[in-house]
Amino acid sequence: MCGMSFSAKSTFAALLAPKLDAAVISLDAINEERGFHGGQGIPVEEWGRTSAIAHERARRALSGGCSVLIDDTGSPRFLRDAWRETAETHGGAFALVWVCISAELQHQRLLASRKTRDRHDVTDEVMAQHVAGFEEPLDENPIVVEAVDAASDARADEVASLIRADETLSESALFDEDQARIALAMDPRRAQRRRPRLLDVGPALVAGRRYSAYAVASGNSG
Ligand SMILES: Nc1ncnc2c1ncn2[C@@H]1O[C@H](COP(=O)(O)OP(=O)(O)O)[C@@H](O)[C@H]1O
Ligand SMILES: [Mg+2]
Repeated sequence: MCGMSFSAKSTFAALLAPKLDAAVISLDAINEERGFHGGQGIPVEEWGRTSAIAHERARRALSGGCSVLIDDTGSPRFLRDAWRETAETHGGAFALVWVCISAELQHQRLLASRKTRDRHDVTDEVMAQHVAGFEEPLDENPIVVEAVDAASDARADEVASLIRADETLSESALFDEDQARIALAMDPRRAQRRRPRLLDVGPALVAGRRYSAYAVASGNSG
């Protein structure tokens, strides 16, 4: 997941995870285990350690065939890229859920939480830095959840369906990639060509991906 503090990521994660049979890995929870509180500001090297622990837990779960849901702000972007890589090397499919909140609602929730003290305070300074530095995943094809919908079980059902469809898509894309390689390797015209190998493989793989995307998106099993 990704989204700013108070967008309700943890609220949504708790609804979504059981629908995907996924274990929640919360960076905030790991920080707490280690005696750090995110809202007070955490030194960069400690964030690095927390992140390494989260990836290690995720790798273990993925290698054992379990899905994981990462509950974190997921910003800056390099953090999301790191999760993509962990998914690719140990699991396969990756989906990004972005919980979006307006500045106004975020401020309301921050003030409300200071009253009820339902979590450690996020200081104004930490919040301002966090908001200013947040890198939105605009070109990463995220599944977007509005903060006001994040406590909705029906919305979690929808998102779980989208993620499952994504998973099918990436599995069939991988399958097509293999098929494309085999088809190319067996193509007798190949031996007569003098162009470099990679040029031959590239366009066919793209064509294979497009085709599988179309087949799944249109619900056409043929
Ligand atoms: N739909 C909602 N309506 C009102 N308050 C909500 C809603 N969803 C979450 N909250 C409140 O907003 C705050 C932040 O939620 P949380 O899930 O902890 O966010 P995050 O994990 O993104 O920081 C919590 O105090 C929670 O009770
Ligand atoms: Mg949270």
